[in-house]
Amino acid sequence: MDSSFAIIQALCRSALSSSKEMVEHQVVRLIEYYKKQGMDKEAKSLEGILAKAHRSQPMESLNFVMSSLEGDELTRGTTVPVDKETATPILEILFQDDMEQDIPLFNDSIQVAVDAVINEWRNYDKLVKLNASPSRSCLIYGDPGTGKTMLAKWIAKSVGLPVVLAKLDGIISSFLGTSSRNIASLFRFANRYKCILLLDEFDALAKLRDDPQEIGEVKRIVNTLLQNLDARAEKGFTIGITNHEKLLDPAVWRRFDVQIDIPHPNIVVREKMLSKFISPLEYSHSELKFINWCMDDATGADLRKLSDWLKRMFVLEGSIRRNVLEQMKQFATMNTGRVSRRIVDLLNSDLTVLCNELSNNNYLQLKQKDIAALVEMSPSNLSKHISKRKNSTFASDSSVIG
Ligand SMILES: Nc1ncnc2c1ncn2[C@@H]1O[C@H](COP(=O)(O)OP(=O)(O)O)[C@@H](O)[C@H]1O
Ligand SMILES: [Mg+2]
Repeated sequence: MDSSFAIIQALCRSALSSSKEMVEHQVVRLIEYYKKQGMDKEAKSLEGILAKAHRSQPMESLNFVMSSLEGDELTRGTTVPVDKETATPILEILFQDDMEQDIPLFNDSIQVAVDAVINEWRNYDKLVKLNASPSRSCLIYGDPGTGKTMLAKWIAKSVGLPVVLAKLDGIISSFLGTSSRNIASLFRFANRYKCILLLDEFDALAKLRDDPQEIGEVKRIVNTLLQNLDARAEKGFTIGITNHEKLLDPAVWRRFDVQIDIPHPNIVVREKMLSKFISPLEYSHSELKFINWCMDDATGADLRKLSDWLKRMFVLEGSIRRNVLEQMKQFATMNTGRVSRRIVDLLNSDLTVLCNELSNNNYLQLKQKDIAALVEMSPSNLSKHISKRKNSTFASDSSVIG
């Protein structure tokens, strides 16, 4: 089957759910696909259609009213409940304007799952009319920096509802005795209004379980949470997020209709992220591929950090940019938690080892002239390096290459 079919399927689904933003997102994916296939004429034509649609129609208002969803409308004037002991707010309201404009990028299978949740929630009214009981809660889990918070806000933005963001640190902070009461008032508030309740960093609760002194209190908190999640099941939408899914109580886990595990982005998604984040800095295609190779297993947040750093370097070092290899060496040395040990070693190994690794890498598919440009060497000199290693240093370097 043609691999553009997955995008066309998602496009049709989006078109039928009448979400202009989602349709646009799918059209952008299709353009990227055609570009990659070298089908520039098709890509250009779709780009034209997209640009025309932008010019002729104002963006559909996302603040549509879900008429079957119970509850009052939240306004900027709505009073937020506070912890009785410390007077700190136990939640924050995020309106449409406060939320991420940027579309988070995920591997294709995750994208399909995310689109399905958004589609279901947007069509809540129609589903309720048919008695089709739509899903209402979604647990998002995965490593820090994979875009979970961004995704939750993007879902809210696409569904057109404000977010009631639970401030779990405030809820469970100094006076443990009041935590259950705070959880109850958080849910009371969320149930009263049309909103998505967002329980970000759920693990703040789970971590407490390590403290034997607090066992009784934690049990009470978890029980309150379970009761409130059950009561909310018939009322509104809820998103839970955790970095440590294993710490989350299994009973809490089961309360969520949909569970999405967000993995680190694959190499293709990393490529898209890099070209988006690094813009407007100008890097050639082979330089971007090289940077991507250096950031093996990085998260979206890592790539954002790298891009911000490259932009700072661009400003601080003036307009003559250093060689990308030098830049990545420095970044790797200063970010050992973001760049794998193997890559740090390779970047710092002798040029022969590095050049051979680059020339043998399947993903990179770099020509010798591209590698020569990356390491600032003449192509003839480079070919000597590559053959030299093949003849003499292969055995001793193989452990570094891994
Ligand atoms: N999947 C992604 N798509 C686009 N940007 C991402 C993605 N993941 C992370 N980022 C970038 O990293 C930042 C932090 O991500 P965040 O949503 O806070 O991660 P998490 O909540 O999983 O720890 C985002 O604001 C965004 O700039
Ligand atoms: Mg987060």
